[in-house]
Amino acid sequence: MTDLATRWLGLELRSPLVVGASPLTDDLDALKACVRAGAGAVVMHSLFEEQLVEEQMAAHRFIDSRTHTDAEARSFFPESELFEMGSDSYLQRLELLRQSLDVPVIASLNGISTGGWTGHAVEMEAAGAHAIELNLYDPASDPAETAQTLEQRQLAVINAVAEQVSIPVSVKLSPFYSALPAFVAGTEKAGARGLVLFNRFYQPEMDLDALELSRKVVLSSSAELPLRLHGIAMLFGRTGLEMAASGGVHTGDDAAKALLSGATVVQVVSALLAEGPRAMARIHGELGRRLSDMGYRDLAEARGALSMANAPNSRTWERLNYARLLHGWT
Ligand SMILES: Cc1cc2nc3c(=O)[nH]c(=O)nc-3n(C[C@H](O)[C@H](O)[C@H](O)COP(=O)(O)O)c2cc1C
Repeated sequence: MTDLATRWLGLELRSPLVVGASPLTDDLDALKACVRAGAGAVVMHSLFEEQLVEEQMAAHRFIDSRTHTDAEARSFFPESELFEMGSDSYLQRLELLRQSLDVPVIASLNGISTGGWTGHAVEMEAAGAHAIELNLYDPASDPAETAQTLEQRQLAVINAVAEQVSIPVSVKLSPFYSALPAFVAGTEKAGARGLVLFNRFYQPEMDLDALELSRKVVLSSSAELPLRLHGIAMLFGRTGLEMAASGGVHTGDDAAKALLSGATVVQVVSALLAEGPRAMARIHGELGRRLSDMGYRDLAEARGALSMANAPNSRTWERLNYARLLHGWT
């Protein structure tokens, strides 16, 4: 059997399968079952910049309310019903998961601008997080903001988080950069140790009867995996950062493809939400059998075997192949 143990961000993992950031953070029994089924680490859901800024404002309002009685001025601040878990309960949850699970627990921050909120990374480290995953969910919508300005802002956020903690920081990126390898080089300089590829953009769903956007979360399918495979295969050997695949991993073969592209670990969310922790056992079994059948003794042997740098025919990743493919369609 292939040895599935691996190292991610300097942490020893018994398998490359990681429970990705999701509401499973709130279900300790499910997380324990995932770990029993072979998960090598767990990522908590995110604490959001907006949530942390709102908390800070609420604290100021509390102090203000003792000195001023200007109710009208205070009413300008929106009351947040958006986030159920405040930063205190998040940190308590983190401590509980640390005590209850015998695999690394990774906390997650989600934001797009520098500011006091990034200081919560320090509290996460103090509460026992083994690493921090920084999600830069930042869909560009302002025609006045250039790619360069946006990227500089994102790099400043990475730097602000990374320089405050001694635990490793991985960065969860969107697939939509004009020059992903150059931006990735910037993230490494800014202090990132790992990449999570890719963020899954909000999948809009429209309610045509009500003529509005529906808030329903659409889970992924394996069809979303190839975008990840391409990004990871292209970057393997060209970045010093370790890579996690996230998005579209539903089977052991999906996980094997991500590892062969160059991923060190593979995150799973939708499969677990749809099928429960049984999905972790299934994917773990399928992955182990597939890699053994292929003759790999360990993950280091398999990692990147089909990347752009190592594939027996690396041109299959390139533009020329794309042109041939389109012309060859029958
Ligand atoms: C209900 C739900 C909640 C999620 N919450 C977070 C979150 O708090 N932070 C985050 O970085 N990603 C979050 N994600 C994204 C997942 O971590 C993951 O990147 C995405 O679902 C793609 O992986 P999958 O195809 O295995 O589902 C969430 C996804 C779902 C479906």
